[in-house]
Amino acid sequence: MTRTISLLLGTTVALSAATAAQAQELNLYSSRHYETDERLYSDFTDLTGITINRIEGNADELIARMGAEGANSPADVFLTVDTSRLQRAADMGVLQPLENALLEERIPANLRDDDGMWFGFSQRARIIFYDTERVANPPQTYLELADPAYEGMICIRSSTNTYNQTLLAAMIENHGEEAAREWAAGIVANMARDPQGGDTDQLRGLVSGECDISVSNTYYMARAIRRDVEALSAEDRATIGWVFPDQGGNGAHVNLSGGGIAAHAPNMEAAVAFMEYLASEQAQEYFSAGNDEYPVVEGVAIAPSAMELGEFEADDVSLAAVAANLPLAQQIFNDVGWE
Ligand SMILES: [Fe+2]
Repeated sequence: MTRTISLLLGTTVALSAATAAQAQELNLYSSRHYETDERLYSDFTDLTGITINRIEGNADELIARMGAEGANSPADVFLTVDTSRLQRAADMGVLQPLENALLEERIPANLRDDDGMWFGFSQRARIIFYDTERVANPPQTYLELADPAYEGMICIRSSTNTYNQTLLAAMIENHGEEAAREWAAGIVANMARDPQGGDTDQLRGLVSGECDISVSNTYYMARAIRRDVEALSAEDRATIGWVFPDQGGNGAHVNLSGGGIAAHAPNMEAAVAFMEYLASEQAQEYFSAGNDEYPVVEGVAIAPSAMELGEFEADDVSLAAVAANLPLAQQIFNDVGWE
């Protein structure tokens, strides 16, 4: 008798906990790991009363985990950086489409998937940096980076890097396969060294003199402007100049950090509320202030560090269309021997 009661009680407690969880929890699978994100999440909880359970990890591991968990996955929202990873998650079937008037109104169409599988929440431009003392005429376009005039001068990271994969995929979209292939081969011919390190290391290569020209995402430079970054002090950076490529043409290539609703989200209402929150004025400001990126929503304040790099025209090519070229981009990298 006693046993039955306690079992029943246990059941009741478990059920009500599950019901409460339904309304008040959000399971976030995230490969973002930036310092301001804490605030981003706690503000959402303050605003909505919804607690966020964060499962963090490498994007590909999280995608594999969601796939393996299948219909039982507790994942509600998947957040990551780079369009290539957002698209990979969509291709692997771990996201579901979301039709949402607010997101569609606030986020420009070229910065989200046509079917609502993923949405960009912040942007970063991939641009040209150079040493102003050694380079009198820096390249003004991505195509010019492959000009033989810059032989042995360029530092850029490996083709395993998703930022480069998306850049080449955009070159294919804007200039066609043959031109993109020639371009990639030209970059390999112009490399100052075998690809190594991250984006910050390409900037450090300018300081050390190993590189004359480098390619890096804007926020790495903006971060160095905002706070101390080893070997990129104000003095170190004194001779670093930059070019937003293709101004007057296609515009500078931008990439995204963003997210989508998990295919089997158990807390759908909370998931949608969180996605809408990420497009809010408040969250959009944090993306910029915290990680020196550009908001996706027009009119939201850009962080002073990012502003120091100056205004520019961004390429408004559809990143979903660009993402469709990713397999071909990988093949071209292999063909031209871009390590
Ligand atoms: Fe990065």
